[in-house]
Amino acid sequence: MNLDDEICLCFHVTKRKVINFVRVEKPRRASQLAGCFGAGTGCGWCRPFLEKVFRQSTDSTTDESFPSVEEYSQLRQQHIRSGKGKAPDQADSDGSSHAENDTLD
Ligand code: FES
Repeated sequence: MNLDDEICLCFHVTKRKVINFVRVEKPRRASQLAGCFGAGTGCGWCRPFLEKVFRQSTDSTTDESFPSVEEYSQLRQQHIRSGKGKAPDQADSDGSSHAENDTLD
């Protein structure tokens, strides 16, 4: 995954945006990355990867791997098809699109 690839496919947030958000806003917890254009607040698929970016940004000794862009997108589709989360355009009529019982902490 390159810097300009989308890490949050629901809200089209690139890895670069998240890294810059961490650098500028200095969030204390990975869950605060939701403040970066809503990253992680859709289907929930990207949350483990947002946590990786957070860890990398706060500890340069960690070496986190990411799947290819194609694999990343396919795995997200599987995540949604399995009912673990809904893309924002599939949100319930109450407007909720958040994965249940799943947090970024
Ligand atoms: S890909 Fe980020 S919330 Fe769905």
